[in-house]
Amino acid sequence: MQKYIPVVVVKDVDEARKVFTALLKDGIPCAEVTFRTACAEDAIRLCASEFPQMEVGAGTVINAEQCKRAIAAGAKFIVSPGLSVEVAKVCKKKNIPYIPGCVTPTEIMQAISLGITTVKFFPANVYGGLSAIKALSAPFPQVTFVPTGGVDENNMEEFLAFPKIVAVGGSFFVKNALKKMED
Ligand code: 3PG
Repeated sequence: MQKYIPVVVVKDVDEARKVFTALLKDGIPCAEVTFRTACAEDAIRLCASEFPQMEVGAGTVINAEQCKRAIAAGAKFIVSPGLSVEVAKVCKKKNIPYIPGCVTPTEIMQAISLGITTVKFFPANVYGGLSAIKALSAPFPQVTFVPTGGVDENNMEEFLAFPKIVAVGGSFFVKNALKKMED
C-alpha cells in the first residue's frame, strides 16, 4: 500500500489526466478516484491504461455494483467512507484490498470479522484525530489505520509518526500537485 493516498474528485477524463500527470510529477504514484462524480469509472480506466505506473483505486464506493464496475475498470484497491459488507464480499471474491471507513470499536470489530485489518479513519478531524486512533489501537493491536478528512501537509507527519498509521489520505495532495505544476 502507498503511504500517500490522494483523494481525487474529477468532473471529466481530461481533468483526470491532468491530475494523474500532476501527481506523478509530484512523486505520488497513487490515486483514489471517488465515485462522487459520474466519470469515476472512466477516469480509473484511463489511469490504468495511460498511467500504468500508478496505483489506482476507487473511493466513495458504497455498494457492490459500483465496486464491480471499479474493479472491472482497473481499480487495484477499494475505499468506502463507511463499512459495506456487500462491498467487502465483492473485494474478497476478486482478491482486491478493501479499506472501509471505521471510527468506532463496533465498526472495527465488524471489519476484523470480515478479515479486514486496515481501515480508513474518516473524517479523522471530526472523530478525534490521532488521539482517537491511539486509543483504538490499544484493544485492536492487529489493526492499522488510514486517517483521511482534515489531514493536510501540516499534520500528516504527526499522523505518520504513529506506527499503526500506514498511510494518510486527502484531497490536499491533488491541490498541491496541481499548484506545483502550474507554478
Ligand atoms: C475523503 O473522502 O476521504 C475526504 O473527502 C477527503 O477529505 P479532505 O478533503 O479533508 O482531504
